Amino acid sequence: MRGAGAPRFPLAELHCHIEGAAPPALVERLGAKYAVDVSAIIRDGAYVWHDFTSFLAAYDHAATVFRSEEDYADLAYAHLSDLAAEGALYAEFFISPDHARSSGTEPEVYARGLAAGIVRARDEAGIEARMVIVGVRHLGAEAVEAAARFAAGPSRPFVTGFNLAGDERIGAPRDFSRAFDVARDAGLGLTAHAGELCGPESVRASIDWLKPSRIGHGVRAIEDPDLVREIAETGIVLEVCPGSNLALGIYPDIAAHPLKRLVAAGVKATLGSDDPPFFHTDLAREYRLARENGLTDAERIALTRNAIEAAFVEEDVRRRLLDRFQIAALSLGSPATSD
Ligand code: ADE
Ligand code: ZN
Repeated sequence: MRGAGAPRFPLAELHCHIEGAAPPALVERLGAKYAVDVSAIIRDGAYVWHDFTSFLAAYDHAATVFRSEEDYADLAYAHLSDLAAEGALYAEFFISPDHARSSGTEPEVYARGLAAGIVRARDEAGIEARMVIVGVRHLGAEAVEAAARFAAGPSRPFVTGFNLAGDERIGAPRDFSRAFDVARDAGLGLTAHAGELCGPESVRASIDWLKPSRIGHGVRAIEDPDLVREIAETGIVLEVCPGSNLALGIYPDIAAHPLKRLVAAGVKATLGSDDPPFFHTDLAREYRLARENGLTDAERIALTRNAIEAAFVEEDVRRRLLDRFQIAALSLGSPATSD
């Protein structure tokens, strides 16, 4: 147990889906309010699913109970205040206009509510946050382009990036290159899920066709040493989510996870909880898993620095976050630099 007033290990997260962060109790409460039966996806206070397909279906169903601006504000606030309590200085989360529509909510209302939650969490818990809009690849290239156009739309407070999520086994990265062009032209930061369910070829094709600065997961790049070298040399950042990978059976146990090997090869990695209550995890546990995977404290703290350096955030805010990070790291007696 940490002693009262002991220095906190500073955390930062770049990979979490906001609907995937919804506490089951909140989904049950809103389900009752809006007469949505959630008993098929929540049992004994926990989400039930058994593979990636049923996980996505449970996720989609949970998303339908959020309807009003206040519902979304409460969701973002609950997520961010939990993260702040774990020691997080900064968080990005993914938001999906298609999931807003699936609950009958206008994406504008959705984004506005989530932004209100970010403001409340910043004011009350001191955590800074930004939103990254996702296109859902299994809905097709047209839907992903529509999501990109929404992301590129006029003045969306706290929206700073674009991402490709959904079932990686459906659609090739080249199908989504126009969507990424739209987002890039709008000045948004770019990241894409790859190398989670599919192998290193999905990471390579995503880099070639979508030109992101970050890859969501990307861990299966480890199966191609040339690709690992390329990622390390170009400085593409991996948003690694060990707890998610274990829950989905990508790796049988934490000893088999490639995080340590990727870091040892010079890859810049960060940690994310992906869909925390679905995967029985949170960001603090991800940092513990990194330790169990063999990372030293200095390597784990470098993951936080990597996240702030790779964040889709304004430069003045990044500088302030790096200052806060530096102070927290020094108070732990750990090196605050990643080199
Ligand atoms: N949407 C929510 N969680 C996801 C994941 N782990 N991979 C792809 N799409 C997702
Ligand atoms: Zn994800």
